[in-house]
Amino acid sequence: MSTILIAGANRGLGLEFVRQYAAAGERVIATCRTPAKADALVAIAASSGGRVTVHPLEMTEDSSIRAFKSVLGNQPVDIAIANAGIYGGNRQGWDDMDFDAWTRTFAVNTMAPLRLAQIVHANLKAGNDRKFVAITSQMGSNEGSSTGMHAYRTSKAALNKLVSTLATEWRGDGIIAVPMHPGWVRTDMGGPNAPLAPEESVAAMRTTIRALTPSDSGRFLNYDGARLPW
Ligand SMILES: NC(=O)c1ccc[n+]([C@@H]2O[C@H](COP(=O)([O-])OP(=O)(O)OC[C@H]3O[C@@H](n4cnc5c(N)ncnc54)[C@H](OP(=O)(O)O)[C@@H]3O)[C@@H](O)[C@H]2O)c1
Repeated sequence: MSTILIAGANRGLGLEFVRQYAAAGERVIATCRTPAKADALVAIAASSGGRVTVHPLEMTEDSSIRAFKSVLGNQPVDIAIANAGIYGGNRQGWDDMDFDAWTRTFAVNTMAPLRLAQIVHANLKAGNDRKFVAITSQMGSNEGSSTGMHAYRTSKAALNKLVSTLATEWRGDGIIAVPMHPGWVRTDMGGPNAPLAPEESVAAMRTTIRALTPSDSGRFLNYDGARLPW
């Protein structure tokens, strides 16, 4: 049985990760901002025989990160998934930017994964699989000519750079770190017109995560394991 830490687990892709890893018999440490409102997540935990535990974590707050680290302690973690993310609001044009929302988008999408990385590093070193996966977006890629959504795009491009650098810094510890694009998925963020169901995206990402080897560390990967251009 592996231990999987999933941050941002109360809805969307995070909740589906919990569902699938729990159904596969793994031990899951799930975090969300408000467990009291996370009915679906708490229901999975309640029927898991203690394998799934739910913990409060507001990823952008030092006090919350510290409190969660004290719960986590030194237990081994095999796979940590930094999944929480926000889209950044409606005003993200070059000529109409909500700069406060842009700052918040960086805090959640770019800085919070590093906060998680800092507290989980020792746990991953103590684990067997030693994998750190940050859920990013193809919208952070420099390829292509799509426009707008500057806050979201830049936050994910910066996340990609962060994780590829972490991969180099953690290579000596045997930890594999990758930014992974989940595809365009029907969640609150992806909307109803997305081609992928959360079940499909997460099943493919689990397969890709299982197959990761040290040579993959630092690569920008699609949910199906294909390499993506930076
Ligand atoms: N869906 C897509 O098509 C798509 C495509 C590319 C990339 N992604 C990425 O995939 C990841 C998951 O997205 P999703 O589609 O599942 O989105 P979602 O349904 O909107 O869920 C976002 C999750 O992030 C959590 N979160 C937001 N801010 C947080 C914070 N400050 N601290 C802790 N948790 C926080 C939310 O918790 P609350 O309920 O408390 O807000 C929620 O659990 C994101 O990183 C997103 O950028 C999604």
